[in-house]
Amino acid sequence: MEPIKVGVIGAGSISEMHFESYQHHDDVEVYAVCDLNGQRAKAKAEKYGAEKYFTDYRQLLDLPEIDAVSVCTWNDSHAEISIAALNSGKHVLVEKPLCKTVEEALAIEKAVQESNGKVLQVGFVRRFGTNTQVLKKFIDAGDLGDIYYAKASCLRVLGNPGGWFADKERSGGGPLIDLGVHVIDLCWYLMGKPKVQSVSGNTYSRLGNRSNVENKSFYKAADYDRHKNTVEDLANAMIRFENGASLMVDVSFTLHAKGESVAVNVYGEKGGAEVEPELQITTEKHNTILNATPQIDALSFDFKKGFQNEIDHFVSCLKGDVETICPVQDGVEIMKILAGVYESSEKGKEIYLS
Ligand SMILES: NC(=O)c1ccc[n+]([C@@H]2O[C@H](COP(=O)([O-])OP(=O)(O)OC[C@H]3O[C@@H](n4cnc5c(N)ncnc54)[C@H](O)[C@@H]3O)[C@@H](O)[C@H]2O)c1
Repeated sequence: MEPIKVGVIGAGSISEMHFESYQHHDDVEVYAVCDLNGQRAKAKAEKYGAEKYFTDYRQLLDLPEIDAVSVCTWNDSHAEISIAALNSGKHVLVEKPLCKTVEEALAIEKAVQESNGKVLQVGFVRRFGTNTQVLKKFIDAGDLGDIYYAKASCLRVLGNPGGWFADKERSGGGPLIDLGVHVIDLCWYLMGKPKVQSVSGNTYSRLGNRSNVENKSFYKAADYDRHKNTVEDLANAMIRFENGASLMVDVSFTLHAKGESVAVNVYGEKGGAEVEPELQITTEKHNTILNATPQIDALSFDFKKGFQNEIDHFVSCLKGDVETICPVQDGVEIMKILAGVYESSEKGKEIYLS
């Protein structure tokens, strides 16, 4: 069988996970790379043995031999590149968030519908963590019963990466669209993707990027500029669903908190579960409350394994073996929630989505 030829567009930090995972897959050849930064594209092409590299994604999409692309660019070009790729007959794996706005999300959805069966998978990588996959089996078997409440939190004390992440034009927002997208999607997925009814949220830009802080290092984007920051530093939200369930979220790039924390919990009528920081299932049996810890290799999200699972699933979808578990419709729904939180915060009231 001919290998599936893929192109990776955007050759920055996260592209490493895509390149590596494709490289580990026997049926895939990393064929081309594109980045606005030619040096970066060339370096990645050499490292991963890609035949061609470009600085204009349209040239990559013009190659008839390419079957699929990963879109790993800044959020502001996800829609444009994904739509162009679908129109060129390529399958698409697009990094989260699907894009910056609901209008863009709907345009991508339309392009998928008109693509003659091309696969578009949204990079909701947390769905591919072993902890999530294990818990999903318990939920699907009915062990937690009806899930009516979820709570997700991802708080950084000092962690605004700067660069494009801190530039609202290119990112679409701060911790909500960057970190919130992961934990909101994870809860929504585990809750069984209920229809969203309303969103009420707050965003705050009180602390800035705190570039004054000394003796504490944090991840910085390549083009970090301490003077540039147009995104929120904290967001919180209450999301109500049509089935009566609700989800509470808070996420920050910076906050006067004692330490970093990630916590994702779902609560059902028969049991509950802590997904992060470590998978644990709570239930009741014979009038006793039980905390059950699965014996699995990693109780927390394993970054490399999660990406490998995500890419393996994408490749299986391209081969027609399965349908993607992260279709464009899910990207649209999550985009509606994120946009709803920003709108609610701006208007100071609850936003009804249905
Ligand atoms: N799934 C995850 O856990 C995860 C983690 C980090 C980032 N991401 C997502 O991945 C994407 C990239 O993030 P990153 O951290 O790699 O950023 P990055 O800045 O390290 O890399 C992005 C690269 O894209 C290039 N680029 C931007 N616009 C382009 C265009 N129009 N054409 C070609 N190249 C272009 C830039 O030059 C840069 O090299 C973002 O959407 C981000 O939200 C996902």
